[in-house]
Amino acid sequence: MKTMLLAACVVALLVAAGPAQAAGDAAAGKAKSEQCAVCHGDHGEGVEAPPIAGKAEAELLQAMMEYKSGKRQDAAMKEVMSKLSDQDLADLAAHYAAMK
Ligand code: HEC
Repeated sequence: MKTMLLAACVVALLVAAGPAQAAGDAAAGKAKSEQCAVCHGDHGEGVEAPPIAGKAEAELLQAMMEYKSGKRQDAAMKEVMSKLSDQDLADLAAHYAAMK
């Protein structure tokens, strides 16, 4: 019985801690998204750059990580991404994923 209780606690902890750490904060992302609007539009609809609104959060985050690391090559995106932290990227991904 004790083991069961312990297991339940561990699971509860993992559920509580996991997503809270990894997930982006859409509200924080909105505040950081002004610098993206020049190219991606006020609503992420794409102006000079591809539309990014409403895409899957994981997909957006991965794309941004790849520009940052240089795996995906684009001078404009590399420049923007290089000034942002991984948390910024997660927040921005959450923000644009939540947009329509
Ligand atoms: C100076 C213009 C410019 C700015 C500013 C800019 N981007 Fe981009 N972004 C681009 C271009 C151009 C591409 C497409 C590059 C390519 O062909 O790979 C792109 C691609 C992307 C992609 C991948 C889209 C896809 O469909 O694969 C994401 C995600 C993205 N940008 C997010 C952002 C975010 C978030 C910001 C703000 C922090 C931002 N960008 C700021 C020009 C810009």
